Amino acid sequence: MTPIQAVSRLPKAELHLHIEGTFEPELMFQIAQRNHIAIPYQSVEEVRAAYQFHNLQSFLDIYYAGAAVLRHEQDFFDLTYAYLQKCREDNVVHSEIFFDPQTHTARGVAFDTVIGGIRRACDTARQEWGMSTALITCFLRHLSEEEAFATLAQALPFREHIIGVGLDSSEVGNPPSKFARVFAEARKHGFLTVAHAGEEGSPDYVHEALDLLHVSRIDHGVRAEEDEALMQRIIAEQMPLTVCPLSNLKLKVVDDLAQHNLHRLLQRGVLVTVNSDDPAYFGGYVNDNFTALQQTFALSTAEIAQLCKNSFQAAFLDNETRQKWC
Ligand code: ADE
Ligand code: ZN
Repeated sequence: MTPIQAVSRLPKAELHLHIEGTFEPELMFQIAQRNHIAIPYQSVEEVRAAYQFHNLQSFLDIYYAGAAVLRHEQDFFDLTYAYLQKCREDNVVHSEIFFDPQTHTARGVAFDTVIGGIRRACDTARQEWGMSTALITCFLRHLSEEEAFATLAQALPFREHIIGVGLDSSEVGNPPSKFARVFAEARKHGFLTVAHAGEEGSPDYVHEALDLLHVSRIDHGVRAEEDEALMQRIIAEQMPLTVCPLSNLKLKVVDDLAQHNLHRLLQRGVLVTVNSDDPAYFGGYVNDNFTALQQTFALSTAEIAQLCKNSFQAAFLDNETRQKWC
């Protein structure tokens, strides 16, 4: 099996994926039209042309604006089902999906509407082709602790359908410590925890996510490499990093994919995984990320297989299911 064949043939899990970031322009136009919402673009081409980002914030501004056309349960179903079909094409057999309830509840869309549509799509994909999914509710870190507590309260009635809580949005200036109490409360209710850290923020943010939020995985974490003691800890504890190479390229975390540290991290024994983050905005789904890495670093079939295995190792799966895929 060649490395490129391995990319398409090997089953894999995706662990870092924002459902709002899978909103392809074609579907955005369709939903905007049926909901009678004006969007500031004339064509799909114009939307794609607007996807030029110089940092995380410049992306987030466009990403939140796009999500504003999602109003009804059917909209969240259509969005999620389209993503799950991409998973099927890419041989992603398990996906742990982030959603940002505050992006929607702030516009008067009920939590129930959001999770209802997402869950119905996940149930349909499970019935149709055995797709496995889990949901992670993210707190928007540019908003207050109080607002995160209110979101946690809204999530509690759906506790059995949500495996964990996460932390996303504008990193710099919004450290994990701001959410230590709400994460502690979430853990009391049995939620697992993850957090974006070390994407644009310094390694201190990764330390805080580990020590104050007690995360099971770090989302991104690429800047952890700047702190050797932290690296030693991540390797010793086999703390997973859910890395998103095309995202890092589009958001200028790296200027060139050849500068990306994923291959180096893998060679050092970090439990690193490959993910798409916001594929509709960053130019590709999971297999596109694998392919770009393979072409840049000449990854071997064994390295591709290790990355796929890592994705199950780092997933919130029971041991029996994990063994089945590893
Ligand atoms: N929300 C969606 N994508 C994100 C990213 N890459 N970083 C932080 N928040 C996000
Ligand atoms: Zn992300």
